[in-house]
Amino acid sequence: MPDQQRKILVTSALPYVNGSPHMGHLVEYIQTDIWVRFQKLRGHNCIYVCASDAHGTPIMLKARELGITPEQLTAGYSKEFVDDFRDFGIEFDNFHTTHSAENESIVGSIYSALSETGDIYTRTIEQSYDEKEGMFLPDRFVRGTCPRCKTEDQYGDACENCGATYSPEDLINPISVLSGTTPVTRESEHYFFKLSEYEERLRTWMNEATLDKNVAAKLDEWFDAGLRDWDISRDAPYFGFQIPGTEDKYFYVWLDAPVGYMASFMNLCERDNSLSFDDYWGAGSDAEVYHFIGKDIMYFHTLFWPAVLKGAGYRTPTSVYAHGFLTVNGQKMSKSRGTFIKARTYLDNLNPNFLRYYYAAKLGPTIEDIDLNLEDFVARVNSDLVGKLVNIASRCAGFISKRFDGKLADTLPDNKLFAEFVDASEVIATHFERREFSKAMRQVMTLADQANRYIDENKPWVMIKDESKGDEVQQVCTQGLNMFRSLMIYLTPVIPDIAERAQSFLGEENWHWNDASAPLLGSHINKFKPLLTRVEVDQVQKMIEQSQETSPVANDVKANDDTISIDDFMQVDLRIARIEKAEPVEGADKLLALTLDVGDSTRQVFAGIKAAYDAESLVGRHVVVVANLAPRKMRFGVSEGMVLASGPGGEEIFLLSPDAGAKPGMRVK
Ligand code: MSP
Ligand code: ZN
Repeated sequence: MPDQQRKILVTSALPYVNGSPHMGHLVEYIQTDIWVRFQKLRGHNCIYVCASDAHGTPIMLKARELGITPEQLTAGYSKEFVDDFRDFGIEFDNFHTTHSAENESIVGSIYSALSETGDIYTRTIEQSYDEKEGMFLPDRFVRGTCPRCKTEDQYGDACENCGATYSPEDLINPISVLSGTTPVTRESEHYFFKLSEYEERLRTWMNEATLDKNVAAKLDEWFDAGLRDWDISRDAPYFGFQIPGTEDKYFYVWLDAPVGYMASFMNLCERDNSLSFDDYWGAGSDAEVYHFIGKDIMYFHTLFWPAVLKGAGYRTPTSVYAHGFLTVNGQKMSKSRGTFIKARTYLDNLNPNFLRYYYAAKLGPTIEDIDLNLEDFVARVNSDLVGKLVNIASRCAGFISKRFDGKLADTLPDNKLFAEFVDASEVIATHFERREFSKAMRQVMTLADQANRYIDENKPWVMIKDESKGDEVQQVCTQGLNMFRSLMIYLTPVIPDIAERAQSFLGEENWHWNDASAPLLGSHINKFKPLLTRVEVDQVQKMIEQSQETSPVANDVKANDDTISIDDFMQVDLRIARIEKAEPVEGADKLLALTLDVGDSTRQVFAGIKAAYDAESLVGRHVVVVANLAPRKMRFGVSEGMVLASGPGGEEIFLLSPDAGAKPGMRVK
């Protein structure tokens, strides 16, 4: 039996509304929706809110380019998100926007609370400025020649060729991407949040929250590198909220975006009097709050956000659940290959429940990327959903309606077998709770195999020919339909439309998780209509064709998306090194300081391998090192390279070593 009723608030990241929803987005919203539906089915009080993220420079500029207001631009794309989410069965309790009165008011009060505690200060910084456009330029809006490797046309924050990081002012021949003119350097006063003073409090939060191993490891890395204060302001023109008491300063989009979670919830409270904002967000709240996000925005959600909440006197999230990125057929989504698939293009061709099932079958609680392999998608859906699951019902339903007037038997012939389906209930529930969806799906399909085997062995289609065995046929089919029913209840969070049709076929409504534990006996069922049809390869093919961008420009740009040239590879200077010295670093849990002999010199490198290796055992060992990595300043000193290793992290790290005979300084190629 489930525990007592929990009070849960769940969010998905707020999508930027300057483009259409695509298959990558859906990983997140489907994952969250499955988890929320599961909690609701278990009888918990679970609320799911989201919103569109409407602010920031890219949105402002795109609107300008199209000659419309940012409000018009974001309203249009918000509608696409709302429509596509609905059609994929993603059911929010509220979908709001960050450009709202609620959000402006909460952001304002957070800002004033942080000002009062002395966590906000101003400092004058230098930034690239486009005199023609009359605006300061974000790093990504300046391009020029890399100061290190001299590759042309690189972004203002990092070189894609040699990996150097720098600021736009360091570029040779910098150009504003907006006007094509040379930017000048201008001073401006910015507002900063003292993140550096939150390390203790964040470590406490991190220990209380139940974070995935990978997420915790990332946090450790950031702590080790040292927390830097956060620039929370941007100069006009900017699409966002003006900072109170200023003329031309705006809150940086990433300050008000997560506040949008609160604002969407507040907007819901305004409509629903039974909800209290403070119950969920006040410092003493006994509700659980979970943020589902992609791995790319962990820094914002595990450092800035909990720190801002703590500083402003609110509760912090119970946990942050991060997922990996979607690849299609093993590669980054690509317009030229037709694998950059919009949510709507999928909907035009295929059943949304199929994608929900496929993602569930692949998802776990880690930040590992997940792959949508289209061939596997077709095979999996056909074999699991059509071949195994629905097949149970279609093999039993006909006999019950034709020969027994749609009435189920009053008892089950094999209670022991049914008990196995009941016993699985809590195992499957635990998998859902822990976001082990793939394990839950595997468990369900194993049971479906068992159900099919039962029907194979009892052969109702043979028994039916024997007049004396009428009752037995009714019983066997009742057994089969009940196994089908329990599995459908377990799958309700994943394939809600199919489950709903199964529910009405069985003459029921309002399934609850626990209903799976008691068989349905003696009642009337409705005539069976096929619940699903198989996926055909053609449908997938059509979807790819519709997604294929044929413009030659797009093809040229995208053709080398996922590959690097041999020249690119040769830019990486890999060398054999011998570990001369290995010592723990005071104040860093994960790091060892390695002194490396790289042939012509020695180097100091900090490596996060302390949990995996005993420092002393490393001395004398040969390893592979990236010798031309830009030196990185860390709290403990400068790291002058990177030692190559494999594995997920923590205790499972495996250093790469050369065969005997390799000498320090030898180039690896
Ligand atoms: N606006 C920010 C989030 C603010 S939250 C306070 C943002 N928006 S986004 O539209 O770029 O992404 C929305 C979510 O979708 C993010 O969690 C992101 O990680 C996820 N995904 C976007 N593309 C994705 C894939 N290709 N694969 C998996 N998830 C992806 O970030
Ligand atoms: Zn470079």
